[in-house]
Amino acid sequence: MSLSITIRRSSEDDVPAITRIYNEAIANTTATFDTEPKSVADRLAWVRGHDDRHPVLVVLIDGRVVGWAALTAWSDRAAYDLTAETSFYVEESQRGKGVGRQLKSAIIAEARTLGYHTLIARVAEGSEASAHLNRQAGFKRIGVMREVGRKFGRLLDVEIFQLMLPTDTPCTLRSMAVEDLESVSALGIRSKASWGYDAASMSVFAEELTLSSEDLRKLTDAQVALVNDRIVGYFTLRGHGDGRVELEHLFVDPSCFGRGIGRRLLCAALEEAKALDAEELTLIADPNSTGFYQKHGARIIGQHATSISGRHIPVMAISLRENLRISSEASEMDVGMIHGFLSQSYWAKGRPIERVVRSLESSIPFALFHDGKQIAFARVLSDEVALAYLMDVFVLAEYERRGYASMLVRHILNEPRFSEVGTWLLKTRDAQGLYAPFGFVSFEGTERWMQRTRPGNKTWTTGRKT
Ligand SMILES: CC(C)(COP(=O)(O)OP(=O)(O)OC[C@H]1O[C@@H](n2cnc3c(N)ncnc32)[C@H](O)[C@@H]1OP(=O)(O)O)[C@@H](O)C(=O)NCCC(=O)NCCS
Repeated sequence: MSLSITIRRSSEDDVPAITRIYNEAIANTTATFDTEPKSVADRLAWVRGHDDRHPVLVVLIDGRVVGWAALTAWSDRAAYDLTAETSFYVEESQRGKGVGRQLKSAIIAEARTLGYHTLIARVAEGSEASAHLNRQAGFKRIGVMREVGRKFGRLLDVEIFQLMLPTDTPCTLRSMAVEDLESVSALGIRSKASWGYDAASMSVFAEELTLSSEDLRKLTDAQVALVNDRIVGYFTLRGHGDGRVELEHLFVDPSCFGRGIGRRLLCAALEEAKALDAEELTLIADPNSTGFYQKHGARIIGQHATSISGRHIPVMAISLRENLRISSEASEMDVGMIHGFLSQSYWAKGRPIERVVRSLESSIPFALFHDGKQIAFARVLSDEVALAYLMDVFVLAEYERRGYASMLVRHILNEPRFSEVGTWLLKTRDAQGLYAPFGFVSFEGTERWMQRTRPGNKTWTTGRKT
């Protein structure tokens, strides 16, 4: 019989049930290191200590609260804002029915919506179901704190699990209007200030970043990025009429750093510069942002005459003719796109996003970016000595037949970390033609399995008779 399960944010009316379920776990499990029962007033204060960004969820079966989960601040220090801790508890009589699993995915979904970058779960010795569900949700065990608690007369270890989340926040872009100038100028100044410049530098920036309607009129293009109708970033472009387009400003509100908004803005600026038929986009980068631009294909072409707080200011350029870049940074993978493709592919049909995330974390992923957008993917499982297994290779349909898959495979095979690998393996239904030029040959007796062996290494066989 299927249960009628509802999961929703908690209200204060749920606090007695939350308290009852928690007290049951205090008394009977090692899941929490509280040892004395909590009063309803205490749990009410705890719930009130949570806010919109730190929700408490309750799960109801047939209208009765049987469990809860929470996203709790990992630390009150501001730099930890993109990290939260998850916890979940299910009433004893309702365990083992799939309720905990649903609670866990609901709290992860909340964290994704709220733009968290990473989640932590602490799992005490003896909480096997919790460890199991965390693993299944894609959490990785990153360490263990030995014998940090004592409960029921035993010293207990606590394992720490972590889940990395794709944090791109959907945002919309539109042209900058005169009414935006005040908030845009303030945002630019806030963003600069977040790098910790001294007052003298800040006053120079404030002057440069305060845009007037006259400035706006002279710009070739200016766009703002919005999340829930709030301006969270902007860029301005100026065409110099000699094939060069300059990105004068690109700023993201510090409260939204690390959520892909800068990337969206830069891609839009690149598209615009292309539409102007420019050869390259140039920019004078803040020394703190050089890495961001390099990740998006920019190269340093010089140094600005002035410096900021004694640091050189690089002048950078992004070529607009063919803006391709390959990355194996896990944080750069467009998980939505990868899941979108794989879950429709013949070999991974229906693979849920959590499993895609987990597979990325357990292997070395590679992405090919075209104008900052991921258009191809592959991943490698390898011990980097004896064996490497190339899998999940794909190029988005609209970019097929332009040599991008070969480019990605060549890049992967030439990665220095794989230079010692004895045997490469892969399985493909119909892409043998892609791999053959790189020395992959089909296994004896089967077309689908291919291998590439370094001279001196044994060729693998299926053991089947042909
Ligand atoms: C952890 C907890 C919330 C899970 O709730 P639940 O409703 O029992 O969870 P589910 O029924 O969805 O799933 C339980 C899973 O754990 C597995 N499991 C149960 N006991 C296990 C054990 N001893 N070892 C390994 N896996 C175990 C079950 O097989 C099931 O996995 P499956 O679906 O892959 O078969 C619940 O056990 C609980 O409240 N425990 C006490 C509090 C706690 O430990 N909270 C976590 C700390 S924050």
